[in-house]
Amino acid sequence: MPDVVEQQTAKKVAFITGAAHGQGRAVALALAKEGINIVAFDVAKDLTYPAYTFGSADELIQLQQDIEALGTSCLSVTGDVRNDADVTRAVEQAMNEFGRIDILFNNAGICAYGLAHELTEDAWDAMLDINLKGAWLVARRVIPVMIEQQSGIILNNSSIAGLRGMNRLSHYAASKWGLVGLTKSWAIELAPYNIRVNSIHPTGVNTPMNDGLAALEGTTTQEIAERSAGNLLPVPWVEPEDVSAMVLYLVSDGARYITGSQFVLDAGLLTR
Ligand SMILES: NC(=O)c1ccc[n+]([C@@H]2O[C@H](COP(=O)([O-])OP(=O)(O)OC[C@H]3O[C@@H](n4cnc5c(N)ncnc54)[C@H](O)[C@@H]3O)[C@@H](O)[C@H]2O)c1
Repeated sequence: MPDVVEQQTAKKVAFITGAAHGQGRAVALALAKEGINIVAFDVAKDLTYPAYTFGSADELIQLQQDIEALGTSCLSVTGDVRNDADVTRAVEQAMNEFGRIDILFNNAGICAYGLAHELTEDAWDAMLDINLKGAWLVARRVIPVMIEQQSGIILNNSSIAGLRGMNRLSHYAASKWGLVGLTKSWAIELAPYNIRVNSIHPTGVNTPMNDGLAALEGTTTQEIAERSAGNLLPVPWVEPEDVSAMVLYLVSDGARYITGSQFVLDAGLLTR
């Protein structure tokens, strides 16, 4: 009986990768405002590829403070989604701290331009290892927790590049189409345990990623946004808060029978 009471009153917990800034931070804050405890996981240092600014340890600390100011708990963990030891440690810490994981937002990702015949193997491997294999490595450790709970929600942050081809982004698109395959297959595997799995597909989002791409390409963030050619609605990009609004719906009871689906947030781009 105490177990049942505890389960009914326990706060929900969301495990968010790539949480230090950008979409991960926005989603963490939006879920925290709903009273959901947050596990904020991020590599929190620059990697060699792409040579732009990643999330930082200071940003993770800031996020933790901002969440705690909302009256919710935040466990921040530094680690790389490609490293199973980091991921396993983070899931163990989350379970020690909160005893459950209700939501997994597989969000950590990188982006960089390059023609297929000019890409190095290192670039290919980094893209696929972070964006695709990383999502699986994290899910592999979280799914058993959700199966034990007989409930859970997994959201994979893909992209419009997971639903179309994109110039000089074939390795990125391959990783993002791969997430659709994971989403649909996990939805089949996990439905018997009341675990829902969906992917989201934003157009350009106003985050440090696009500033980083602009710096690498020697151009403006606006031009990077225009390259993906053609939001129907007259906006260059959407905001991280637009992504969190979609996530809030998908983790709500209103979405309780939605699984295996792709949710597009593209200002109409794919309609062209
Ligand atoms: N920004 C866009 O225009 C856009 C559009 C569609 C989809 N997406 C996708 O949304 C997700 C979030 O993107 P964003 O715009 O917030 O990017 P961002 O670069 O602003 O933030 C990404 C975060 O992920 C972290 N990260 C990167 N590699 C990691 C690793 N190996 N292990 C742990 N953490 C790691 C970074 O430190 C950073 O904090 C990505 O998967 C991206 O591909 C981005």
